[in-house]
Amino acid sequence: MRIAMIGSGYVGLVSGACFADFGHDVICVDKAADKIAALKEGRIPIFEPGLDELVASNVEAGRLSFSTELAEPVAWADVVFIGVGTPSRRGDGHADLSYVFAAAREIARSMQGFTVVVTKSTVPVGTGDEVERIILQERPNADFAVVSNPEFLREGAAIDDFKRPDRIVVGLEDERARDVMSEVYRPLYLNSAPLLFTQRRTSELIKYAANAFLAMKITFINEIADLCESVGANVQEVSRGIGLDNRIGSKFLHAGPGYGGSCFPKDTLALVKTAQDSGTPVRLIEATVAINDTRKRAMARKVVAACGGDVRGKTIAILGLTFKPNTDDMRDAPSLAIIQALQDLGARVKAYDPEGMAHAKHLLDPSVVYATGPYDCAEGADALVIVTEWNQFRALDLRRLGEVMAKPILVDLRNIYARDDVERLGFSYTGIGTST
Ligand code: UGA
Repeated sequence: MRIAMIGSGYVGLVSGACFADFGHDVICVDKAADKIAALKEGRIPIFEPGLDELVASNVEAGRLSFSTELAEPVAWADVVFIGVGTPSRRGDGHADLSYVFAAAREIARSMQGFTVVVTKSTVPVGTGDEVERIILQERPNADFAVVSNPEFLREGAAIDDFKRPDRIVVGLEDERARDVMSEVYRPLYLNSAPLLFTQRRTSELIKYAANAFLAMKITFINEIADLCESVGANVQEVSRGIGLDNRIGSKFLHAGPGYGGSCFPKDTLALVKTAQDSGTPVRLIEATVAINDTRKRAMARKVVAACGGDVRGKTIAILGLTFKPNTDDMRDAPSLAIIQALQDLGARVKAYDPEGMAHAKHLLDPSVVYATGPYDCAEGADALVIVTEWNQFRALDLRRLGEVMAKPILVDLRNIYARDDVERLGFSYTGIGTST
């Protein structure tokens, strides 16, 4: 199959490289000339484990190339994926579809022969209909079908998620498009990943419903964690105890400082707006959004309590800035709200993150001091706060930390340490939902 991928950001680049790895011919297109120039030189603009090797080997094999021009790749392609961004629109929280619609208009002008146009970007219900309308408006006689094929990959595990998906969802209303999409996903289909064909609107909603459900699951366990603290229970054991029930499932039950990232915050909000607009509010998700928003700053109050009720003039060391490990993504990271709140309360903040510091510098107050590693970060600190569970923070030498810190106080917002091990070394320990 000949595939043109419009938008070479996170989803576009990972999907494009994986499709090429399946043996398809892929051209990834992006308007950002610096991004395409970097990719042509073998530099990957995002941090994603394994992506550089995957891109390099498929470029070398002649199956993957890059372009700033859309017209030629679209004319050449059997399938055109739209993988451009759909950020939250400023002011109202709806998904901003201007990039999707602009891409649709340009694609319409260049399509040749029967072309399947697939939205891979996360788009609200009804966007496929609008894309179809735009293409028809530009080219009334065009031979095409519009398909929805949402992406479920996680940052940091994107290649594995793409190659070993739990399911592939394809929404369409056209039989020829069904054959083309079956061919595109044949390598995975043969690996027995379920290929779920459904209607286009249903497929669009599946993506939002999946992300909203996962965000709600995390928020549920976060509230149970708070309850554990009040009543003297342990949330990790509650998670295990409920997760072993197959109807609940053990994943996404890690209590923490609240979900962040480029997807859950934006998609939950967009679903809330769509539902309100259609007169059928999704109150569970409205509550999820509100609870998660307040949770991040509430984590700062935990740090204050661990420090004896006041952080004014104290140095707080923050380990982990990105919204989760194995990414350099800082979008809606809990660290941003926590650090801001600590600074508002008069604390001095030192921080360390293996990949996120370059982005963090643009987002955080310039007074934050960046360290070269965890021990450097802890030097002279009145408390150490683990905000992101990078592997390299999981086996810190606590004795050494105790020696360099001004006070041995550990606030573990990801529950990666066992209270007893830490307290045995003379630290005071605060976890999430682990009062025992
Ligand atoms: C999420 C979904 O997991 C993907 O399936 C989806 O494709 C993607 O959004 C998307 O829509 O593009 P991602 O945002 O990369 O993926 O990250 P997750 O691993 O889902 O984590 C999201 C947030 O939830 C992080 O802040 C993480 O720390 C938090 N989390 C996750 C918890 O606090 N507890 C958990 O048990 C799991």
